[in-house]
Amino acid sequence: MPSETTNDAAATDIAARVASYQQEHLLAFWDELSVEERARLTEQISAIDFAQIAELISGDSSDDDDWDAIASRATSPPAIRLSHHEKDRDELVAIEAAEHALRSGKLGVVLVAGGQGSRLGFPHPKGMYPIGPVSNRTLFEFHVDQILALNERYGVSIPLYLMTSPATHVETIEYFRQHNNLGLADDDLHFFCQGTMPAVDAETGKILLADRGEIFVNPDGHGGMLEAFDKSGCLNHASSRGVEQLFYFQVDNPLVSICDRRLLGFHLLRESELTTQVIAKTNPLERVGNVVLVDGRMMVIEYSDLPESAARRTDHDGELELWAGSIAVHVFDLAFLQRASLDASSLPFHRAHKAVSYIDGNGEQVVSTVPNAIKFERFIFDLMPSANNAIVVEADVDRVFAPLKNASGAAKDTPETTRAAIVRESKRMLEQAGISVADDVAVEINPRFAFDANELPAKVTDRAVSRDTYFTPLE
Ligand code: UTP
Repeated sequence: MPSETTNDAAATDIAARVASYQQEHLLAFWDELSVEERARLTEQISAIDFAQIAELISGDSSDDDDWDAIASRATSPPAIRLSHHEKDRDELVAIEAAEHALRSGKLGVVLVAGGQGSRLGFPHPKGMYPIGPVSNRTLFEFHVDQILALNERYGVSIPLYLMTSPATHVETIEYFRQHNNLGLADDDLHFFCQGTMPAVDAETGKILLADRGEIFVNPDGHGGMLEAFDKSGCLNHASSRGVEQLFYFQVDNPLVSICDRRLLGFHLLRESELTTQVIAKTNPLERVGNVVLVDGRMMVIEYSDLPESAARRTDHDGELELWAGSIAVHVFDLAFLQRASLDASSLPFHRAHKAVSYIDGNGEQVVSTVPNAIKFERFIFDLMPSANNAIVVEADVDRVFAPLKNASGAAKDTPETTRAAIVRESKRMLEQAGISVADDVAVEINPRFAFDANELPAKVTDRAVSRDTYFTPLE
């Protein structure tokens, strides 16, 4: 234990802090630690808000909400549906508004890539995963190629704000450095690192040690984006560049339609502060977050919290009432984010029971495969209820969503299913342009080659594709 004889004021201070929150075990191995290890542990402990942890363990939390009661009041959210043909004219106006905003440099992009990607089991940041079915491009390349294509098309340079976590930060920065920012200008690429939270033992509330001199911490969830975006100076940077709307997406979806014009356009027309792209659920119990309206505010009810009876409710046409499945793609009004960043309650922490391996009081490693710990995470969609005029815009799942979550062999969201979805969408574009593709042939289109199907006929001379082909601009 640190004592006066260590002559180290910081150590004495942390000893007092841990003691006042009954977390003394964090210093149990102090005497065995090297000077560097002590410094690191001191830094970790100093960064912990013990009062907040104590409150999160024992206090009220939105995780204790009465979901039966909430779901009974839930209705479908204000929506722009795909099937609303009478709205075709509105759609043209929306697309014009989106294109005008893009051309005027009012868009910024936030990519969250701080997750640990544990299900995929890839030993690098997930964005470095080679997913291109023909090109072998990484997820990061997919996203940056789309941004470069938007830049070319609208004559702008859209800034990319890329969120990492301590688990992915150094390697992500090094990857972009080694690959010349994948073509982005230095002032168009900004990394910001999200915060972490310690995990606690689910029974005792004791903070867990990952090693004798190291506290077990995890990234604070994709909802950690707002605090990190603000603290890092990126929020101010975006504002000073004239950004008014931020397109937000997750690293694991190579089909994402970045700055989707229909999504962005209706967001602008409806003066929405937060617009979410959704897909229509095909099954009431589908494992996606449900975007709903409760007491006049939009919110997400996780599939695990939605009672089956509510999930199965239908409207007078026999359609699912709670039909809108979230794909974690949002457009945020920047002024709304500025307002929300001043209000700590807008993004509460949630408790998740997870299996965590840790070091026990004897210094032994305890490997756990069952949930034994509580991790604290924030969810970005918790911003919804605070947003004015929030709406959802429906998109076709096959065109915008193919998340890479699991390793090969799992039932869904694997490298194979994601690659197949990319090939299907590329084939659809080619066929729409009157170019046939032989069965069992893999095709992939770089958006810098053709942004949409309309651009293909002028660029592809053969009317039939008979072998695996990657359509990419000649460098
Ligand atoms: P997931 O919830 O799918 O988590 O993240 P994950 O870390 O990628 O994968 P698993 O659960 O460990 O297998 C969805 C998106 O949110 C980002 C991820 O990088 C991914 O883009 N995310 C998640 C963060 O940026 N930070 C977090 O703390 C959590």
